[in-house]
Amino acid sequence: MGIKKMETGKYQSVLDKFKKYVMPTYAPKLLIEKGQGAWVWDSAQRRYLDFATGISVCNLGHCHPAVTAAIQEQAGKLVHVSNLYMTENQPVLAEKLVKHCFDGVAFFANSGAESNEGMIKFARKWGSDKGKFEIISMEDSFHGRTLATLAATGRSKYRKGFAPDMPGFKQVPFNDIEALQEAISDKTAAVMLEPIQGEGGIMPSCPEYLKEVREICDEKGILLLFDEVQCGMGRCGTFFAFQGYDVEPDAVSMAKALGNGFPIGAFIVKRKWADTLMVGEHASTFGGTPLACAAANAVIDVMDSENILDNCSKMGKYLTAELEKIAEKYDFIEKIRGRGLMLGVVCDRPAGALLPLLQEEGLIALTAGENVLRLMPPLNVNKEEADCAIQILDKVFTGFAK
Ligand SMILES: Cc1ncc(COP(=O)(O)O)c(C=O)c1O
Repeated sequence: MGIKKMETGKYQSVLDKFKKYVMPTYAPKLLIEKGQGAWVWDSAQRRYLDFATGISVCNLGHCHPAVTAAIQEQAGKLVHVSNLYMTENQPVLAEKLVKHCFDGVAFFANSGAESNEGMIKFARKWGSDKGKFEIISMEDSFHGRTLATLAATGRSKYRKGFAPDMPGFKQVPFNDIEALQEAISDKTAAVMLEPIQGEGGIMPSCPEYLKEVREICDEKGILLLFDEVQCGMGRCGTFFAFQGYDVEPDAVSMAKALGNGFPIGAFIVKRKWADTLMVGEHASTFGGTPLACAAANAVIDVMDSENILDNCSKMGKYLTAELEKIAEKYDFIEKIRGRGLMLGVVCDRPAGALLPLLQEEGLIALTAGENVLRLMPPLNVNKEEADCAIQILDKVFTGFAK
């Protein structure tokens, strides 16, 4: 029996177990067994170029040796003791993050939703003695699947079936300063947004808009919260996406790529708000364990030592230019948008049908919104890999255009 046939049997048995024992909230089609750099291998030893990176998680590529070594070493020393005790890696990580962000303090969590949940609690606590509690977020935004982050999420389809929404949230159209101004009341505690919307369709904020939002928040005494769970950690060519806009929030959340696949999230608040959440007012059993922080410390060290941001900007420009070239050939492509290596191919029709075709040719990608093909390669992707992806995209677009 050849490898392929043997592995097909394995695929079927994993799928059978998955269907019987795993809650059907996902419908995966591919059995992935190994990853290295920009590549993953399925159970039939087929190789795929991974331009999804676990939805912007493995930004340094799969199994980066320095991150793997840090996890292995720490796993043999100390995995968890709870935040009732100090461990060295956590303040080291907080300092590194703050030095890449703005002066402030960090809270550690495990996921994007948990980081946003904490950031929302921070805003509510900040507003509690001022009678302010409302959070204004954006239409088409995505902030997570917990009840508070769902209430903040503008993409209403995610809220369907989970009514009633948690009170205290309202959405306004993104990049519309007048709508925001109208929505602000004396109950507004914060404006919350993704500087570049991910799930909503790789939609960047207009630079003037973001600056004006900051000004309005300052004028009205409102906090500005940025959700950088997807667009942060170098994805847009700067460590945080807001640094590319030169607009600082009062707090920023992150997760996904912070551990390059090891679960860890965080939010950082400016030092002037450092005493808002005090002892006992927020907590997380697994937040910032020595193991998670070892992974994240290694991630940041690699980002600095391997010039990851420069490569992201350079390859982002290269891929955008190549995509724009091939886009000219296909009427169904409206435009290419995004920043750094957070790229969207905006189509005039649902983009979902492209994914299995690309996968068949050896490229893993994502959609965003309905009509956008989302490409998020590792930030250390090289030119050969980018060219390989472009070749596959061009070939698949030809069939798709017919
Ligand atoms: C902008 C943004 N915020 C929050 C989340 C939720 O993160 P998690 O799935 O880690 O809870 C996501 C996930 O895609 C996201 O893109």
